[in-house]
Amino acid sequence: MDLFDRKEKPIIEVKNLSLTYRHRRQGLVYALSDVSFEIFKGQFLGIAGESGSGKSTVCKAIMKLFREWEIADISGEVLYRGNNVLKMSWKELQEIRGRRIAMIFQQPCNSFNPVVKISAVFAEIEKRFSPKFSAEEILETVGLEKRVLDLFPHNLSGGMLQRLQLAVVLLAGAEVIIADEPTSSLDARAQFEIINLLKDLARNEGLTMIFVSHNLRLIKYLTQRMIVFYGGFLVEEGPTEEVMENPLHPYVKDLVKCLPEREKPFFSIGGFPPDLTKKAEGCPYRERCAIAEDVCRGRVPLKRQYHKVMCFYA
Ligand SMILES: Nc1ncnc2c1ncn2[C@@H]1O[C@H](COP(=O)(O)OP(=O)(O)OP(=O)(O)O)[C@@H](O)[C@H]1O
Ligand SMILES: [Mg+2]
Repeated sequence: MDLFDRKEKPIIEVKNLSLTYRHRRQGLVYALSDVSFEIFKGQFLGIAGESGSGKSTVCKAIMKLFREWEIADISGEVLYRGNNVLKMSWKELQEIRGRRIAMIFQQPCNSFNPVVKISAVFAEIEKRFSPKFSAEEILETVGLEKRVLDLFPHNLSGGMLQRLQLAVVLLAGAEVIIADEPTSSLDARAQFEIINLLKDLARNEGLTMIFVSHNLRLIKYLTQRMIVFYGGFLVEEGPTEEVMENPLHPYVKDLVKCLPEREKPFFSIGGFPPDLTKKAEGCPYRERCAIAEDVCRGRVPLKRQYHKVMCFYA
C-alpha cells in the first residue's frame, strides 16, 4: 500500500529529463534519456542500477551541480516545490543548495577541508544558515560527542565522518537529502549504524530522502519506493517491496537474482553495459535480454501507473 497522499503535490518532480555530457575524449555521452519520477514529502526513494547507469547524474541534476562545459545538451525539467531548478540563477540556486536540498557523498572525507577544525565548519554553517538548533544538539542527534568539535576531519573514522556530513546537512536545515551511496565506503557495523540513524531521522525529523545504492538489501530496508536505471533510462519504478518481490523488467529480474543467497551459486548478468556514446534507440537492455524481440528496437514506453515498467513483455 502506498502511504503517501497523491493529492498532495510532490516536493520534487523530474520531468522528461534527458542529459548528454560532453567528454573530452569520448565525445558525447547520453547519460539520461527521458527520465521522469516524483518524490513526496517524507518519502524515502531508493535508486538502483549498475555502474554508469545515470544514478549520480540524476542526483546532480536535482541540484544543478554541473559545470557548463560538461553538458552538451539538457532538456526536461526538475521541479522543486514547483520551481524549475534547471532554469534558476546562481543566486536562486544558493538559496536551495544546502538550505533546502543537500547531498551527502560516498567519500565523506572529500566533503571536509582537512586543515579546518570541525568547530570552524560548524561556525561557518551557523553564520550562513542561522540554524534552529545548536551544534551540540545536532551532534547529539547524529550520535557524536561534543569533543569532535576540537578535532580535524582526519582524526575521525569513516563512520564518524559520515555522521558529521549528516550533522552538517541537518544543521543547515535541508528538507531533502540526496545520499549518493553514503555507506559503501564503510565497514558493515558503521554501515548498519548509519542506516539506522537515517531511519530514525526519517521518523523524527520528517526528512525526504533519495538514497542511491548498489545494495538492494539496504534499499529494501530503508525506502518505500524505488526506481531502477539502466543505460540512462528509468526501466522500473514502484513500491520497494513490490519491485523486490515481483520485479517486472528483465534487467531488474536479473538484478534481484544477483543478490547473494546462502547455498546458491552466484548469479551474474552476462554481456556488457550499453555504450552511452551512442544514442539509444529502443530498449537499452535488449542485447543482454533473454526475451528481446525486434519490437524492442523501437521506442518502448513506460507501462502502468503504480508499478511502472519499460518493457513490452512485462
Ligand atoms: N562529467 C562527465 N563527463 C562525461 N561523462 C560523464 C561525466 N559524469 C558521468 N559521465 C558518464 O555518464 C554516465 C553516467 O554516469 P553516473 O555517474 O551518473 O553513473 P552512476 O549510475 O552514478 O554510476 P556508479 O554506480 O558507478 O556511481 C557514465 O557513462 C559516466 O561515465
Ligand atoms: Mg554514481
